[in-house]
Amino acid sequence: MPYSDSLTLSSLEKDPDPILAELRKYEPVCFVPALEMWFITKWEDVAFMESHPEIFSADTNPSFLARALGPNMLTMDKPNSSKARNAMLPAFQAGGVAGSFVSARLPELIDQTIDQFIENGKVEIMKDFATPISASSLAIVLGLDSHAWEEVWEWCEGLCADIANFENDPTLTNKGNAARDSLGKVLNKNLEELSKKPNQTALSTFLHSINSDPPLSQDEIVNNVRLMISGGINEPRDGIGLVVKTVLENPQLREELLENDSLWRKCVEEVFRLHSPVGTITRQTKCEVKMRDKTIPANSLVSGILRSANRDEEHWSNPDLFDLHRKEGPHAAFALGEHRCLGEWLGRQVVKTASQRLFTRIEGFELEPDFEIELKGFEFRGPLELNCVWGKHV
Ligand code: HEM
Repeated sequence: MPYSDSLTLSSLEKDPDPILAELRKYEPVCFVPALEMWFITKWEDVAFMESHPEIFSADTNPSFLARALGPNMLTMDKPNSSKARNAMLPAFQAGGVAGSFVSARLPELIDQTIDQFIENGKVEIMKDFATPISASSLAIVLGLDSHAWEEVWEWCEGLCADIANFENDPTLTNKGNAARDSLGKVLNKNLEELSKKPNQTALSTFLHSINSDPPLSQDEIVNNVRLMISGGINEPRDGIGLVVKTVLENPQLREELLENDSLWRKCVEEVFRLHSPVGTITRQTKCEVKMRDKTIPANSLVSGILRSANRDEEHWSNPDLFDLHRKEGPHAAFALGEHRCLGEWLGRQVVKTASQRLFTRIEGFELEPDFEIELKGFEFRGPLELNCVWGKHV
């Protein structure tokens, strides 16, 4: 029986890397019955998939993403996806709303979050640091910061519950619908106001973008902002957790980073490569396609495993090793094709600044004695909890 036949989602969620190494070696292109999907695990093949959207379509059927959020740029192919993408991308780049947020408000947001727990001498990083910073950052850039970060996080959790509701559990559908409706109402109200009185927020730029003719409709904006809320908070959150974990586990790395600030950028990139917080991309074949020794039929769902491409031993030297000084070119953690992450510039800045500030301000920051870090997830992966303690701080 082929190895792929025995794979389960729970084993992939627990410890995907040895499984993916086995697949790269013996079945680099294979059908996985438990997920009813084809897996593509080699760097070269994932890159091929990403550069051939005419074969591997983002417009999949079924689409849990379209069902939970409404049609959005990630459920469409070019040219349909370009309208929203072109209108929305500038706000998330260095020269846009995100750029102003990162230079004017992000350091203060991080310091205020640290101030909330610094006197306690202990903190759970995922809940009390990574989540509020990721949720608040996106909320401020979008212009939704009159809502508490807890509410923004609740929208994110509700939407994500329904996106991953593969077994159509009605409790999860209800949770998703509640988040979808509540966020939709807030967005529609804000957009009404912004149509009369534009301001310096990303939502306002979406409405008044000169890159879109005709302008984006309110529904187009609402569905795509749902996509941002469902995807743009969990990932920087996991990214912060993964960087904090990596630095805590590696005293020599920590020394290097504290001596030379400019190395934080490299550290974040290497953590993204090694851990790929977003593990996969899902597409559907528009025609039959031959890859290696396999023929994938038309209309098949295909998972391009970014996590596996990022550890492919034919592309990287010592791929399982964290190497701060690696010089082997870009990784695939933000994807490689026409749906490459829209929020990557902002995401990188949030993860880098938050981790850097935490270790700079809290001397002697370490894991609680005997605490064992558990990573979980296949599609999205990060630490479940990070219990930390310290003595001195500034
Ligand atoms: C920092 C960690 C992040 C990681 C690792 C990450 C990763 C990814 C990946 C792998 C994709 C491609 C998905 C696919 O092709 O199926 C993607 C797409 C996307 N990401 Fe991110 N992301 C991050 C942060 C963000 C943030 C902060 C936002 C906020 C706006 C965001 C918004 C989006 C959107 C809207 C798309 C869809 C783009 C399109 O369809 O053209 N992401 N992201």
